[in-house]
Amino acid sequence: MSCVRDLLRDSPLPRLEMQMLLQQVLGVSRAWLVAHDTDPLPEDAVANIQALMARRQAGEPMAYILGTREFMGHDFQVTPAVLIPRPDTEVLVETALDILQGKSVAQPRVLDLGTGSGAIAISVALAYPRASVTATDSSPQALQVAHANAKQLGAAVQFFEGDWYQALPAETSPFDLIVSNPPYIRADDTHLAQGDLRFEPRSALTDDANGLQALVRIVEGALAWLAEGGALWLEHGWDQGADVRQLLAQAGFQRVESRRDLAGIERISGGYL
Ligand SMILES: C[S@@+](CC[C@H](N)C(=O)[O-])C[C@H]1O[C@@H](n2cnc3c(N)ncnc32)[C@H](O)[C@@H]1O
Repeated sequence: MSCVRDLLRDSPLPRLEMQMLLQQVLGVSRAWLVAHDTDPLPEDAVANIQALMARRQAGEPMAYILGTREFMGHDFQVTPAVLIPRPDTEVLVETALDILQGKSVAQPRVLDLGTGSGAIAISVALAYPRASVTATDSSPQALQVAHANAKQLGAAVQFFEGDWYQALPAETSPFDLIVSNPPYIRADDTHLAQGDLRFEPRSALTDDANGLQALVRIVEGALAWLAEGGALWLEHGWDQGADVRQLLAQAGFQRVESRRDLAGIERISGGYL
């Protein structure tokens, strides 16, 4: 009969990951694992834990195995249909919230393009309930996950399926703020074949070109969808800040700037009409 202590000792996985898998299968807290580490575990539970260990050893991301990932203090459901929300993206949400605080409009309108799990749109809607938040994605499977997250977390977000701005119904009013974390990895970037990225939807990661195609489309399209004084902020790759600032400036945006993530890397760029 195996117990928690044996499984933790014999597992090739990092202890923290193994503890998370044990908690998931046994439905218990970390404290329970410590207090009951020599209790014999049911055979079916051990078999389930071993199955999850095998998936993790094959490289599958913990977030897909557990079906959840924390972002901005909320637990988001994630499936292989969506990008796993990254801590790096929190700087985009924080910037969006700063901008919304400074708006005098009663109900500022926010658009999140390529919403995936809904992480950005839902976090903004929860932190700033006065905003009217719309989100789009071209993937119907991703939108199902986003819908489920909005319902689960109690966020009011309107979702539309389609190619960037084409997803929006024609009668949609202009937005005060557009945000997006689009696919920006170059098609030839070797990271696509490494780590978690191997398991995430390719269409969430890369434009299958030079990494700037989606960013160009979103910047160009924003002019038709932003209200006067509206802002556009975009997440991008570590080496794309100068390119995105140039795109924004060429499109006529003012006060163009970039902000850095927790690792000190230029992570988002934006500007104002
Ligand atoms: C990098 S993921 C971002 C997901 C989520 N916003 C986040 O930050 O965790 C990019 C998202 O853009 C979506 N996408 C890719 N091409 C698109 C297109 N042409 N129109 C709309 N959405 C698109 C993908 O399906 C994916 O969900």
